[in-house]
Amino acid sequence: MKILGFETSCDDTSVAVVQVTAGRGTIIAQHTYTQVEEHAKWGGVVPDIASRAHLEHLPRLYAQTLASANVTLAEIDGIAATVGPGLVGTLLMGSMFGKALAMGAGKPFIGVNHLEGHALSPLLMPDSPVTFPYLLLLVSGGHCVIVRVDGLGQYKTLGSTRDDAAGECLDKSARLLGLRPSGAALEKAAQGGDPFAYPLPNPKVDGLDFSFSGLKTAIALQVQKAGALDDTARANMAASIQRAVATTIAYKVEKAVKETNLTTVVVAGGVAANAEVRTLLTTVCTRQGATLVVPPFALCTDNAAMIALAGGLRLQHQNVYDWGLPVRPRWPLDEMTAIV
Ligand code: KG4
Ligand code: ZN
Repeated sequence: MKILGFETSCDDTSVAVVQVTAGRGTIIAQHTYTQVEEHAKWGGVVPDIASRAHLEHLPRLYAQTLASANVTLAEIDGIAATVGPGLVGTLLMGSMFGKALAMGAGKPFIGVNHLEGHALSPLLMPDSPVTFPYLLLLVSGGHCVIVRVDGLGQYKTLGSTRDDAAGECLDKSARLLGLRPSGAALEKAAQGGDPFAYPLPNPKVDGLDFSFSGLKTAIALQVQKAGALDDTARANMAASIQRAVATTIAYKVEKAVKETNLTTVVVAGGVAANAEVRTLLTTVCTRQGATLVVPPFALCTDNAAMIALAGGLRLQHQNVYDWGLPVRPRWPLDEMTAIV
């Protein structure tokens, strides 16, 4: 089954064609436009700018993707688009584009939960080493959750952030240091820095939940106290911030592994690109006898392939959220139905 997928939940415009077979997916073609430049000067994603950018880039990416996949719309078996969670305006752009195409071509439309896409993304890895059940850590600019994935459509959120996401904390911290508001810029600045130079607190939150707002305030105070930063001080500060965020993430993942006895941990989301985060996660997983699976970066960040896969798996089982479903800015994974 060939599925055309659209992802527009936030600031990435992505279109993909995925072949879905035997519970797995193979990417035939994918084109993604990342809007970071458009939002960088505002210090965060501006919903209205994001919506307009999706509208501008969707037609081009759609044409490019079909051409790269060497398929026509007539050869597509279903059209999937993210309908939630995310920004209401941006969700409307991708889902209306998908619905219009599906209606015109007489194809099934599948509204996809973005988080389900992330949860199933390891099934797109070539020779995927992942089998159910597993723990999913999703750490991005918008999400910070630990989910137990027992099967297709069977999810239990074990912990989530009570305020900011880890990526948002890194983005805002980078900005305070006079860098581009991105975790990647912070990671670059942290190279060679001393991660213990500036003391930062470990957030104390019950269970498997996260909180980054207190840490964000502590970071702001440290930066204020430090005054003008030379290159060494900036590297030390960036390394300390990165270490603090990575430590809290790894601590909760270790706790989740211990509590669930699951032996596979899959990490997704843009923050998974961070070497410090991966190193500390590898340490805790090894200590607990679990395997850490880090899909390629293109599968970790927002992408249409994971949306096409989730849509295709639901279509195969005739268990779809179709035309009637409006966009859902909030849509917890625990509300999904099992795909059987
Ligand atoms: O998954 P993603 O692309 O989706 C959104 O949430 O939009 O994640 C973006 C997040 C941003 O907060 C970004 O700063 C962070 O991932 N990120 C990183 C790195 N690369 C991207 N954080 C830390 N280190 C990196 N190398
Ligand atoms: Zn995402």
